[in-house]
Amino acid sequence: VAANVQPAAMAAAGGFVRELERRGGPALRLEQREAGDVGCVVWDAALVLAKFLETGACPLARRAVLELGAGTGAVGIMAATLGANVTVTDLEELQELLLVNIENNKHLVTGSVRAKVLKWGEDVTEFQPPPDYILMADCIYYEESLEPLLKTLKDLTGPDTCVLCCYEQRTMGKNPEIERRYFELLQADFELEKIPLEKHDEEYRSADIHIVNIHRKRAVG
Ligand SMILES: C[S@@+](CC[C@H](N)C(=O)[O-])C[C@H]1O[C@@H](n2cnc3c(N)ncnc32)[C@H](O)[C@@H]1O
Repeated sequence: VAANVQPAAMAAAGGFVRELERRGGPALRLEQREAGDVGCVVWDAALVLAKFLETGACPLARRAVLELGAGTGAVGIMAATLGANVTVTDLEELQELLLVNIENNKHLVTGSVRAKVLKWGEDVTEFQPPPDYILMADCIYYEESLEPLLKTLKDLTGPDTCVLCCYEQRTMGKNPEIERRYFELLQADFELEKIPLEKHDEEYRSADIHIVNIHRKRAVG
């Protein structure tokens, strides 16, 4: 794991804060929760993707961005500090944490950011038209979610939507099979291009954390 991808937690009432340094000014302060499901902490893939956004490789100012499985909101909030108009989404139980983190960092936001419930596989009409970017960090980790997640990606993407999917390659248990299956299913409708490690943030990178740029396949003919 990259040098900077380590817990730098500070004790706080009911949770602990993860600071995420920014090139452009004060760090993001991301509250996490000691109790709760996997979305309550900032995962390494979120750090890597948030810091990749800061490299400027993808223009974000005034772009519409939607984050899936946002957890603490680290990635989406970083995008909003880079001028994007962001909707961070997750299950109902993560909304309180998302709202706290939006509030804590709102003085750093130069675009806009709001939180919404989006459960994979369910209706996405309220998120139309397709955003410019969909961001996902560490969202490929359990089998039952693969088909609903794929449906959401198909329903939400237009021909020009760029999906940035960051994930940690895991070698334990069912993880390799889940990753393999996800990319197999994805390739029916999408084209994938891995972003080389040299293009990730110089410090926040790791050989086992990948960023894949995903686009809808264009109709032939
Ligand atoms: C491993 S966490 C990653 C959180 C955050 N993106 C990060 O990297 O720090 C996976 C996230 O996906 C969300 N999630 C899992 N299943 C979901 C579903 N069916 N619909 C929407 N979100 C889901 C979880 O609530 C959690 O926040």
